[in-house]
Amino acid sequence: MSESAEQTGIALDALGDWRGGGGCGTWRSEHIGRSVIVMGWVDVRRDHGGIVFVDLRDRTGLLQIVLDPADGAGAHERAHALRSEWVVAARGRIAARPRETVNSELPTGEIELRVEEVRVLSMARVLPFPLGEAHEANEALRARYRYLDLRRPRMLRNLTARHCVTAAIRALLDDEGFIDVETPILTRSTPEGARDYLVPSRVTPGSVYALPQSPQLFKQILMVAGLERYYQIVRCFRDEDLRADRQPEFTQVDLEMSFIGADEVMAVTERILVAGARAVGTEVPQIPFPRMTYAEATRRFGTDRPDTRFGLELVDLSAEMGASQARVLAEAVAKGGMVGGIVVDDGSRFSRSQLDELVEWSKTVGAKGLAWIRSTPEGWQSPLAKFFAEGERTAIEGHSGLRQGGVLFLVAGPRKLAGSVLGQLRLRLGAMLGLVPHERNNYLWVTDFPLFEHSEEDGRLVAVHHPFTAPCDEDLGRLESDPLDVRAVAYDVVLNGVELGGGSIRIHRPDIQARVFAALGINDAEQSEKFGFLLDALSFGAPPHGGLALGLDRLCMLWLGEHSIRDVIAFPKTQKAHCAMSEAPSVPSEQQLRELGIRMRQAEKVKPES
Ligand code: AMO
Repeated sequence: MSESAEQTGIALDALGDWRGGGGCGTWRSEHIGRSVIVMGWVDVRRDHGGIVFVDLRDRTGLLQIVLDPADGAGAHERAHALRSEWVVAARGRIAARPRETVNSELPTGEIELRVEEVRVLSMARVLPFPLGEAHEANEALRARYRYLDLRRPRMLRNLTARHCVTAAIRALLDDEGFIDVETPILTRSTPEGARDYLVPSRVTPGSVYALPQSPQLFKQILMVAGLERYYQIVRCFRDEDLRADRQPEFTQVDLEMSFIGADEVMAVTERILVAGARAVGTEVPQIPFPRMTYAEATRRFGTDRPDTRFGLELVDLSAEMGASQARVLAEAVAKGGMVGGIVVDDGSRFSRSQLDELVEWSKTVGAKGLAWIRSTPEGWQSPLAKFFAEGERTAIEGHSGLRQGGVLFLVAGPRKLAGSVLGQLRLRLGAMLGLVPHERNNYLWVTDFPLFEHSEEDGRLVAVHHPFTAPCDEDLGRLESDPLDVRAVAYDVVLNGVELGGGSIRIHRPDIQARVFAALGINDAEQSEKFGFLLDALSFGAPPHGGLALGLDRLCMLWLGEHSIRDVIAFPKTQKAHCAMSEAPSVPSEQQLRELGIRMRQAEKVKPES
């Protein structure tokens, strides 16, 4: 444990005319005999009385420095005082390590620095958590002292890798003729489906800016302006519930192109992913990626972002169950819903209590329940067994592929809900059974999304992507008569079950845009109030255009094998959308509020999370 600076009685040294000598971790045996200056943090100090060994760390790695009175008496005296995380500069000579002390696990393990002079540049208080065990430290503590957390080699690797990814993407897009254009952060609401962050305006009291959920409308307008190929690595803001792959502010690789179709956007995206993967040293994806329609993805996997690395596909058993004596199942079908199933061949992997747990779990994700049927040499074992006659059993086994020793899980309910529960069950079973080959990377395009769906909250028609997405030409005639049956020219790119990015061909005709707004229940007044500038722009010669945005944080998370996007963001927000280090958000002063013309109903003091 370090002592505090006051306790050491050591005076700090000035840097003087010393300058960093090229990185602790970069020295090798070919440099033996060279006189160098290194600077960094004391990682570990081993005081052997006569000789003091220090592992000095900087972003390039560790170097063992040896403070031996035979090399420099003053340096050796100071060495006893050195403590963890002090910032130190050392001048000396690179020497071969004695054979028995060579450390083959360290790139600098064959050499050491014999120190002639040492300067103490900064001292450090006792750390709130030891860096070596930071992963075990409480998340809140790590967030509060983020700069210490970032000193860990893993975090340094992540930030460096992220830099390499963005540098490679910029180089590729530059090469392909894309122009990087900045778009406003203080803007007005863009409908990406989340809640906005609002910024009150001082000069126009009562008005607010919205932080962009994406630069969607600006990039479309840049196409109208004739930019033809736009990109931006850009921060977006969405006030939504946080998860491991969601942050309130996150970064998109955002692009838009004119005079193209979906295939061109998809091909550029694939090249971006190849360039990024290459830069980060992960497996380079094979292109083109496979494609699957939305209808197929939801039918086979119960989701529009399927993890195709393993099987356990869904079977629709509605036909077999519709006439069954099992009321819950038959009723679901009668009401226009479905009974879907998943078969696990080795049913012995599940104990009775595990099956019961799965039933309980299914209720937490919205299912009324989950039924199971075990096929054993003695026949079916299941709470539902009594409802099925021999012939029905054969039909169900035939369609589902349930064989002796296997277990069939069943979910009944409205189509969307049952599919979604089964999709989640599939992921859960895949993880429980160890079926997910984590070393594989499956990239996939999901295409032909519906243009609209019913909102889960109030049943209104809402856009699946956003309201600027073009309907398929063939379906345009049904926009008013059968809107739910209209497909969009939209595509999502999925990696291992995570939505990496999404985009679409846009509506470039003001008449079609107005029809889509109308289908969404946005009346003329609202159209011109909220999107008048877009409709205006589309009326002044808009080229056909489309684009896509990739979630950069998610991409880096997956490529680096991390489980949360927080681990690839330098200063992420906590689960409660706080910055634990700077303690944002904070309570504004009375004067700030007065200037903004705002009165708080209740100014609750923001406390850091514990
Ligand atoms: P979309 O809303 O699908 O599309 O967003 C694109 C990608 O951004 C990432 N993403 C997030 N990452 C971290 N935290 C979040 N809260 C978050 N929300 C989204 C995802 C997602 O696939 N304007 C359109 C794109 C277009 O049509 O060109 C858009 O924003 O990886």
